[in-house]
Amino acid sequence: MRSVVLVGGFGTRLRPLTLSVPKPMLPVGHIAIIERLIENLVRGGVTDVTLALGFRPEPFLQAFPDGTCAGAQLTYAVEPEPLDTGGAIRFAALFAGIDSTFVVANGDVLTDLDVGALVQFHRNSGAEATLHLTPVEDPSAFGVVDQESSGIVRRFIEKPPPGTSPSNLINAGTYVFESSVIARIPDGRKVSVEREIFPALVADQTLWAMATNDYWIDTGQPDLYLKANLDVITQRRAEHNWAHGVAEGAVIGTGVALSDTVVADGVSIGDGADVSDSVLLAGASVGPGAHVRHSVVMGHIGARAVISNCVIGAGVEIADGTHHADERIPAPSA
Ligand code: GTP
Repeated sequence: MRSVVLVGGFGTRLRPLTLSVPKPMLPVGHIAIIERLIENLVRGGVTDVTLALGFRPEPFLQAFPDGTCAGAQLTYAVEPEPLDTGGAIRFAALFAGIDSTFVVANGDVLTDLDVGALVQFHRNSGAEATLHLTPVEDPSAFGVVDQESSGIVRRFIEKPPPGTSPSNLINAGTYVFESSVIARIPDGRKVSVEREIFPALVADQTLWAMATNDYWIDTGQPDLYLKANLDVITQRRAEHNWAHGVAEGAVIGTGVALSDTVVADGVSIGDGADVSDSVLLAGASVGPGAHVRHSVVMGHIGARAVISNCVIGAGVEIADGTHHADERIPAPSA
C-alpha cells in the first residue's frame, strides 16, 4: 500500500519551535513525529511513503539519507509553491505515479489507529474516500463529520462556530483515497482538501468515515506537543510507543528534581534544578537552581531562573534569576 504524508506546512502555531525545526521533524519522546507516524502506517500495511514537502525540505532529506524511514521506502515530492492540503496531495500523488487506492496522513498527527482496519473498512464500503474520525470535547476547531449509521458522510463542516456542531466526531487526519480523488483536485492553484474536496465527495455520496477511540493527538500547538511527549513517557499510549524520559547522553547535575520530563541527548541540567512536566529539546540547557515547569525548551535557562508554561526557542538565553510565565520567547510575531 502506498501513501502520501503531508509535511509541507509552515507550522506557525508551534513557533518559535518551528523557526529552527519543521513541525514533523520535532521529536516526541526522542523520535521525530514523522518517524512515529510512518511507523504506525507501516504497522498497518503501508510500504511506500511519498512526503509532500514544501517549506524547508532539507531537514527531511538529511534525516533519512538512505531514503527509508521506519521500514518504508520514501519518495520526496517538493512543491514549487505551497499548494495547501489538496493541492499538495495531488502534486505528490502525480509525482509518485500513484494510480490505485492509497493512504493519506497529516504529518502532525500521532495515533494508534489500526490503519489496516481503515483500509479494510474503505474496501468493504466501496467508498471513493474514507476518513478516520476521533471524538473530541470541543469540535469547533476541527472538521466535523455528521454520518449515517452505515458510515456514509452526510455533512462535512470545517470549523463550525461553537455550539453549532452536529456531532463531536472530527476529521482525525488519516484518509484512504481511491486514485479518482486526485482527478477531482484542480491543478495550478491552492486547494484545501477539507474545504473543497470533502464537501464535493459528500455531495456525490462517496465519502465514508470510520470513528475509533484509539489514542489520537494533533501535535500542532505547544500544549498538545508537550502532551504528546508526556503521553509516551507516562505510558498513555500503546506499549510499542513508550519511551524513557531521560536520554542516555543527558548530563544531570546533583540534587536535580526531575518529574515527567523529556530530556534530549546532550542536554545539561545544573545542580539543584527542578524540572517538571516539560520537554528539554536538543540544544537546551538548564542552569543550577533553575525551576522549569510545563514548558518546552530549546534554549538556555539561566541559573535560578523560574520558567512556567513557556516555549523557549533555539539560541534563546534566559537571564539568571529572571521569572517568565505564559510566554513564547521569541514571541511569534518577532
Ligand atoms: P499551522 O501553520 O500552525 O496551521 O500548521 P501547518 O502549516 O502544519 O498547517 P496544518 O496543521 O493545517 O496542516 C495540516 C497538515 O498539512 C500538516 O501536516 C502540514 O504540514 C500540511 N500542509 C499544510 N499546508 C501544506 C501545503 O501547502 N503543502 C504541503 N505539502 N503540506 C501542507
